Amino acid sequence: MWDRLLTGCTVATLDEDRPGMLGLIEDGAIAIEDGRILRVGRRVELAGNRARSVEPLGGALVTPGLVDCHTHLVFGGDRASEFEQRLQGASYEDIAKGGGGILSTVAATRAASEDELVGAARARLRALMRGGVTTVEIKSGYGLDPATELKMLRAARQLGEEERVRVSPTLLALHALPAGADRAAFVRAACAEMIPAAAREGLATAVDAFCEGIGFTPAEVRHLFEAAARHGLRPKLHAEQLSNQSGAALAAEFGALTAGHLEPLDEAGAVAMAQAGMTAVLLPGAFYALRETRRPPIALLRRHRVPMAVATDCTPGTSPVLSATLMLSMACTLFGLTPDEAIAGMTREGARALGLLDEVGTIAPGKAADLCVWRVGRPAELCYWIGLPGPEKRIVAGVDAPVHQC
Ligand code: NIG
Ligand code: FE
Repeated sequence: MWDRLLTGCTVATLDEDRPGMLGLIEDGAIAIEDGRILRVGRRVELAGNRARSVEPLGGALVTPGLVDCHTHLVFGGDRASEFEQRLQGASYEDIAKGGGGILSTVAATRAASEDELVGAARARLRALMRGGVTTVEIKSGYGLDPATELKMLRAARQLGEEERVRVSPTLLALHALPAGADRAAFVRAACAEMIPAAAREGLATAVDAFCEGIGFTPAEVRHLFEAAARHGLRPKLHAEQLSNQSGAALAAEFGALTAGHLEPLDEAGAVAMAQAGMTAVLLPGAFYALRETRRPPIALLRRHRVPMAVATDCTPGTSPVLSATLMLSMACTLFGLTPDEAIAGMTREGARALGLLDEVGTIAPGKAADLCVWRVGRPAELCYWIGLPGPEKRIVAGVDAPVHQC
């Protein structure tokens, strides 16, 4: 007997084998057993089977749980004062060069205890969960020393253990250079100390870097990716955010999962990403908050069939975003994605971006039963409302996962 049968719903399976980007099944049903999806199909096909709990959904839309594949959720302090400076005309780069920016969050993160980091991040995480997130990536990167990077990753792990959400942890090893540090020595330490320690303790599955004029050079990133490969961690990259450093092509050389931001990506970068099977991570929150004017080259990515994920990039600096559904709206309005592309970007493509597509991201037999039930008439409403508060029901591993107010 099945554990649960959700029935009388429109199912957006996101299954690539079904017609249309969303793989819609009208008047559908989903059977769940042991936390997994057992069957999905039309209501009439699944009727006649017994389930402990039969739940008619009255025509609601069921999607895979949202996958937020790029966040910096764990950090100390906030940067509201820099927001005020930017409103007065200072640029993100000016603030960073003046010792603010990432380095001010580094100071606050070093000063915070692990428990304090968990507490502050928990509130942000729950906000994302209320919006429908069931899987979230969390990067380190505000420690810039092995002890603090590991403290951040332990905080991320604890959140995954305590909250009804799957956490995918990433060591962001080259994010900024600490004040007064020797560049070469810092990169060497990231390769020889941070990566081995994170891998040894099983605290990260991937390694990230910020390849940028105010970040790290392609040559430095190359050293990091070589070390990541030696320790079995998948590379991913912040590439082509403020300028084009050919970071996407470099990431492709190393078989990276993703390159994120990508506003000034060129055709060679898109081709390299396509050939390497990479996913492009689009971050409309950072684009909005920095008042970027150049959009990522969506037509180019489409032409070369590079899968496009959409994520919050929740950071204290460039993207203090606490709403996944707001990103669905912004991906359409600011970047020109279709609603179907945006929804796929926070489900199937988000899962692909994390290397978790075998487990989550679509509604198919064998996958984890991570689902959102939305009280909307048609899928495009998820993008049409500007920051829809969240689904009516969030299900993680087959169990309703309520989110308490915080
Ligand atoms: O993804 N670009 C680099 N990293 C973050 C911003 C970090 C910060 O400003 O704190 C990003 O936008
Ligand atoms: Fe980021």
